[in-house]
Amino acid sequence: MPGAEGVGDKGEERGMSVRSFCLGLSMSVGLMCQSGSGFANEKPDPQKAEAGEQIYGDYCQTCHGDNLVSNGQTFDLRRLTPAERRRFETSVENGKGQMPPWRGVIDPEQIDKIWHFIMSKRG
Ligand code: HEC
Repeated sequence: MPGAEGVGDKGEERGMSVRSFCLGLSMSVGLMCQSGSGFANEKPDPQKAEAGEQIYGDYCQTCHGDNLVSNGQTFDLRRLTPAERRRFETSVENGKGQMPPWRGVIDPEQIDKIWHFIMSKRG
């Protein structure tokens, strides 16, 4: 996504460890790393989180519950830790169990925003 990089996120610089991890990873799965423009951010970005809340409401809430509170039938997304971002992206893009794959339905930037929303709710 040309131009998506460098939107001026202040958190960008702080995510060094994640970033170098990402660089190493990108040798084999370049696509995934390029797709997450906010991949290096460890702190949730309030603007992305707000946008993510909308997207979550449109696509995820029916199964994953109001405000991420699972009804017990599905995975409780608040259990995800910052280190599980890759797992999150893989499961969301490819689907898991009863959950359909979201690749092609929502784009990586939207998935990124949902991630920020989830991280902002972990408290
Ligand atoms: C049709 C219902 C449904 C919808 C809609 C749905 N999910 Fe899920 N989701 C599930 C179920 C069921 C599981 C548990 C899958 C399993 O472990 O077998 C799950 C699991 C997950 C997991 C954990 C996967 C793992 O690695 O264990 C994540 C992350 C997730 N969903 C994210 C999302 C996001 C983000 C959205 C919105 C784009 C979404 N889900 C929409 C039903 C749904």
